[in-house]
Amino acid sequence: MTNSIKIKIHAGQHRINRSIYGHFAEHLGRCIYEGFWVGEDSPIPNTRGIRNDIVDALKALNIPLLRWPGGCFADNYHWREGVGPREQRPRMINTNWGGVVENNHFGTHEFFDLCDMLGAEPYICGNVGSGTVEEMEQWIQYMTFDGESPMAELRRANGREEPWRLTYFGVGNENWSCGGKMRAEYYADLYKQYSVYCRNYGGNQLYKVACGPRDDHDYWTEVLMREAAPFMDGLSLHYYTRVKDYGLYIENPDGNRMFLRNPDGRKHAHSAVDFDEREWFAVMKSAYYMEDLVMKHSAVMDKYDPEKRVALVVDEWGTWFDVETGTHPGFLFQQNTMRDAVSAAICLNIFNNHCDRVRMANLAQTVNVLQAVILTEGERIILTPTYHVFEMFKVHQDAVMQPLEINSAMYVRKEEAIAQISASASIDAQGKLHVTLCNTDPTRSAAVNCGIEGFAGKRVSGRVLAAEAMNSHNSFDEPDRVQPARFDGARLNAAGLALDMPPMSVVVLQVE
Ligand code: AHR
Repeated sequence: MTNSIKIKIHAGQHRINRSIYGHFAEHLGRCIYEGFWVGEDSPIPNTRGIRNDIVDALKALNIPLLRWPGGCFADNYHWREGVGPREQRPRMINTNWGGVVENNHFGTHEFFDLCDMLGAEPYICGNVGSGTVEEMEQWIQYMTFDGESPMAELRRANGREEPWRLTYFGVGNENWSCGGKMRAEYYADLYKQYSVYCRNYGGNQLYKVACGPRDDHDYWTEVLMREAAPFMDGLSLHYYTRVKDYGLYIENPDGNRMFLRNPDGRKHAHSAVDFDEREWFAVMKSAYYMEDLVMKHSAVMDKYDPEKRVALVVDEWGTWFDVETGTHPGFLFQQNTMRDAVSAAICLNIFNNHCDRVRMANLAQTVNVLQAVILTEGERIILTPTYHVFEMFKVHQDAVMQPLEINSAMYVRKEEAIAQISASASIDAQGKLHVTLCNTDPTRSAAVNCGIEGFAGKRVSGRVLAAEAMNSHNSFDEPDRVQPARFDGARLNAAGLALDMPPMSVVVLQVE
């Protein structure tokens, strides 16, 4: 069955900041070690210890920005342990993620080297939970100060003469939970204190991001904006797409992690691959909820910052399912299916459409963790369906968003309904219009009519990501099972565009 959908594209003025297409890499599971970092002596082709295939794949996404070193890990991270000769760096326990040994071989120098190779902006998260103001101040000096100071000398002694350019700096992570279990009022005071010492040296200008709320906790947003808005450039939001309708969130007694459990306390199985349409629908609904959250927190921010100077920085988002059978529960390794692809498209369309306030977002996490764009096994890598969505959507980076009016048919299940089609549009520097759409319904196609205001196109071309099953995915045996194909289903007409979208698909169109 095919539903009929109407979209109208209007002329817009807000730029989609390319940082919305940012990524996040934490010292968690196999994201850094076995992911980005294999070490100089590895038989896996690498440059100064960093895997070449991963760098190439991420460059093809035009990866704009990479957040590091955490996550929860950031508030346990003491940067001095990760500089100097590698063999002399202390080994420590990664208390947040699996209790495994962290050898500190990937530290500040390696991270900046990686960002250089990627052509991506570094986004560093500092330690408020277990670190001191002095430690944070010295790290920034170590990285960005060009004059005479013990920290600049230490950097030089460690082989880096010039300071690095660092713009994005987060002052703590999830300080309401793994970052210190603080009250909003307490953290707001600490934010002001710490951020004073996050200084700008020479021409380096920091863009400071305060720890913001999780999910719908708008009290945190209210307090931070009321107390500290003038001192920040961005306020973070963390929200993960999960199957929420059966399980409960509870907090681990150590306070560090959240697990989904059934009401009887048993851990509920929400497999990344083995699911039915109920769980498909729950994930789509949970992805759409991102828009409610963006609007809810933006409304609070508007009260204190009507000019929208402070950005909403969604610096952790993505799907969170059970780990794959037989893998370490603390490593958060999950497969990635067509369901992840469609849910990523929903969220990216939301960020584009709210780009006046959302100016950065970071998918969690780049390699081998949660909604990864790349999975590795020894020397092999695969690109996930989510990778392909980021590749298709990269046309929006720094383009001017064109607001949409969508009159969508609904995807209905039991008593619940969500919009069948999510979309966003932008015009790039060459004057090309791009429209990205996804069909959230796994069984119904959609006939979409799209009126375009003030834009006369002569040609339309497109690509589509579709699959035969909800859980279709790429594996090391079948790495190209889900990948984009040419899309010939769109036509230009007097009113604009018409296209037929297959069920559970993601489409990008270019009109010129
Ligand atoms: O991305 C995994 C974890 O999720 C991060 O470390 C933490 O910030 C969040 O709770």
